[in-house]
Amino acid sequence: MESQDIFDRGNWGSKVAFVFAASGSAIGLGSIWRFPIMVGLNGGAIFVLCYLLSVFFIGLTVLLAELAIGRHSQKNLVGAMKLIKPGTPWKGVGYMGIITGVFILSYYSVVAGWAVGYLYKTITGAFRGEVTWQASDSLFRSFAADPLAVVICLFIIIVITTFVISKGVKGGIERWSKILMPVLFALIIILSIRAVTLPGSGTGLTFYLKPDFSGFNLNVLFYAVGQAFFSLSLGMGTMTVYGSYITKKENLVSSAGWVCFSTTLVALLAGIIIFPTLFHSLQLTPEQFKQEFEVSTGLMFQAFPIIISKMPGGYIFGIMFFILLLIAALTSTISMLEVPTSYLVDEKKWKRKNAAIVIGSIAFVLGIPSALSNGGVRFLTKANFMVIMDLVFGNIMLAVGGVLICLFIAYSWKVRNSLKEISIGSKSYKLTALWAFNIKYLAPAAVILIIVFIVIKNIL
Ligand code: PHE
Repeated sequence: MESQDIFDRGNWGSKVAFVFAASGSAIGLGSIWRFPIMVGLNGGAIFVLCYLLSVFFIGLTVLLAELAIGRHSQKNLVGAMKLIKPGTPWKGVGYMGIITGVFILSYYSVVAGWAVGYLYKTITGAFRGEVTWQASDSLFRSFAADPLAVVICLFIIIVITTFVISKGVKGGIERWSKILMPVLFALIIILSIRAVTLPGSGTGLTFYLKPDFSGFNLNVLFYAVGQAFFSLSLGMGTMTVYGSYITKKENLVSSAGWVCFSTTLVALLAGIIIFPTLFHSLQLTPEQFKQEFEVSTGLMFQAFPIIISKMPGGYIFGIMFFILLLIAALTSTISMLEVPTSYLVDEKKWKRKNAAIVIGSIAFVLGIPSALSNGGVRFLTKANFMVIMDLVFGNIMLAVGGVLICLFIAYSWKVRNSLKEISIGSKSYKLTALWAFNIKYLAPAAVILIIVFIVIKNIL
């Protein structure tokens, strides 16, 4: 997008602008915070492998589908479904996406709030000198359990997100992120080089990159598919809205490919930083890790101060890192809030500012129990409130939304019509047959079977 605000339903200035904006939504805590937790909980490299397969076969398929629906209709998901298939229940998929988005925004903002807290801690010198795992771990636990601090940090994130969306200064944010995202990228690459040169990093890399096939089970696949949807911002209409700002000139296929590539790369690098650092500090073997180590929601916040403290100029480096992490998180929270806001503005004719404030306030209130469930309040912590929100909304609801989008294309809008949209601007789309197969059979069948088996396994 050029200088104009994209949410006045302008268009992105160029393909590069679109790829940056969509990657801004995609790259965030999903890749840097959530992905390593999933790897840690699901057996290491086997999860990484399943994740890569899910991104390629399912994520890319659904991403292209959402972009096509958005560009074709020039609308949010509810409006698009109403336009393409008026008078049918398909618009319900859009409503579902709106609700899912508000819930994800609520707990995602809690974690983004932790980055605010960590930025403050870094500036005030909490991580000066050598940081050990034990020190970093207890620092995280006491911070996350401080009810006032976490709720204030959550509030800060919601206020910034609401302000950006209500003022429509998104265009400005995009311009900034165009400069800052590459800097974050550079920083992550430098940190990963430092991490792999730590003594003992080899065991961490083995755990992370050498698959142990005996560890494979349906749970791993379930979380890998969920992570693919989460990290690519799929299944709730975000990419539909972003697609609605792409011009007919652009090539949807290569844009989608770039978004998948950059997001996956950041996730993979985050793991390359975290696992060698962790194995180095704790001197664990992969087996000990699997049996003894408790992967907490704070994994990233426990590991990064350690590796940052091992960098020359670590103080400045740490400040830069947490600022950039915060910006990456904000470009994602903004894209989440945009989904319900654009619905209320486009379909219900609300004022943008009112819509943003109302939804932002709801997300804040919904976020409080998540904020307090990491040690702040006992029963919420015991009930694992935030983890359950993430399971239900971040994993299951996004996957269900993604399947319904596939089914909508396959059996209602029809593959040939969507391919017409996709081929505008990308005439030489070679994988047409593969995409059609994925969207009709592979993606829906895989996701439905996985969810059904998981439900059966857990209920019976
Ligand atoms: N993809 C974002 C991230 O990884 C999170 C997100 C999910 C954003 C769903 C929008 C919609 O941080």
